[in-house]
Amino acid sequence: MKIRPTVGLSFDDVLLVPKFSAIRSRSAVNTSADLVKGIRLHIPILSANMDTITEARMAITMAQQGGIGILHRFMSIADQAEQVERVKRAESMVVEKPITIRLQSTVAEARQKMAESDVGGLLVVDGENHLLGLITNRDVLLAQDADEPILTVMTPKERLITAGPDEPLDSARHTLYKHRLEKLPLVDGEGRVAGLITAQDIIKIQQHPNATKDSRGRLRVGVALGVRSDDIQRAEACLNAGADVFLVDIAHGHSNHTIRMVERLKKRWPQVPVIAGNVAAPDGVRDLAAAGADAVKVGVGAGSICITRVVTGFGVPQLTAVAECAEVGHQLGVPIIADGGARTSGDLTKALAAGASTVMLGSLLAGTEEAPGAPVVRDGRQYKVVRGMASLTANVERRRLDADAVIREEDWNEIVPEGVEAFVPYRGEVADVLHQLVGGIRSGMSYAGAETIEQLWKNAEFIQITAGGLRESGSHDVNRL
Ligand code: XMP
Repeated sequence: MKIRPTVGLSFDDVLLVPKFSAIRSRSAVNTSADLVKGIRLHIPILSANMDTITEARMAITMAQQGGIGILHRFMSIADQAEQVERVKRAESMVVEKPITIRLQSTVAEARQKMAESDVGGLLVVDGENHLLGLITNRDVLLAQDADEPILTVMTPKERLITAGPDEPLDSARHTLYKHRLEKLPLVDGEGRVAGLITAQDIIKIQQHPNATKDSRGRLRVGVALGVRSDDIQRAEACLNAGADVFLVDIAHGHSNHTIRMVERLKKRWPQVPVIAGNVAAPDGVRDLAAAGADAVKVGVGAGSICITRVVTGFGVPQLTAVAECAEVGHQLGVPIIADGGARTSGDLTKALAAGASTVMLGSLLAGTEEAPGAPVVRDGRQYKVVRGMASLTANVERRRLDADAVIREEDWNEIVPEGVEAFVPYRGEVADVLHQLVGGIRSGMSYAGAETIEQLWKNAEFIQITAGGLRESGSHDVNRL
């Protein structure tokens, strides 16, 4: 047995000491950071891979805002891959495989296909993918006879404006604007469909200049994986759907299971970045990095819905865990993701100042519109549900998914939960929440005289505070409106 001579600190135990700042305004601060080498985020924030936080809708918004979402893994492999596809389809420079329909189809079939694929128009093709026409929502909505062939309502090829496969985006924008078009089909020399550029996509690119995108202009997304053998199939399916990053995530990440899984993934797909976790001590970072991890996620028991520390007695206060792990991470060139326990923008700044490159958020994003699930009303106020992935109900659902079977009463009793179910106030849209959080980080960085997160690491000086200091830190001795 050994007892460390130093105390473990959490966010509330410290403040950052203001430093000389030559920064003129918060907007001069650059909040970009490496998720992993080769993927830099404009805002250093990830949405947590929890089933009440990140599904496709959250991941789309996170990437549009310049962060990234990690899709949780508590769903079937097919469902997770489908979620990846949805994110990858949400925005792109060119739709490489536009949804098509055959000329022989009816208006009813076109309606159904548009609804199923969530698109406003279909390219009409023959058996060899030659473009024959375009049919849009407007064409089918106004058609009276559902059995009518699409041939009679579509815009035929002769009346369509098209472009070549390598049409530059600027020129496409010009053509779409000049002819007031919604869609510009791209065709090759033989008249076969080679892609599609839509006005919507160009508008989205303009609306989200800081979005996290891949080389083909599609939003980036990460996928969580477990450490079982079918998680390799999960990885493969998600990768085929376009996933950008794997995240091997188990509660005790400093384990043989995680190390082996990271090794297997890196051996099979050396080019795909792997994040691994969670750990709470520097040896964990060292071992996961040695296995090939491109970033390490730090945090054991700090999360808002976690009871791991209560149930098991294990954990390291989050600020100390991040600071110690980051020291090793910086030596090895492996970015650290601080995961769990952040309640305010000040906590995010502290986690970054302690050496993290990025921060993962659960409950801070749980109340948003984009988090899965509808708001519930209690006493006239709206709330959303958040639950730990080791909570009782999450465990039961996972067993049901695994066994595809009815769960018996005794199964419930076998479970030892390490997380809770809770609800948080409804908070509106993610973009507004992120605006406040990133504004706080920017302001914090300017107090540190740091233009970049890397400078923040260098300039940061923490001071430990007492209960008196903590009391003084919030608003006090006033009746808040
Ligand atoms: P916040 O504080 O942002 O934390 O809500 C989110 C992180 O909490 C972790 N997590 C859990 N930890 N039991 C735990 O001990 C659980 O059931 C649980 N579910 C999530 C996870 O690391 C997440 O990103």
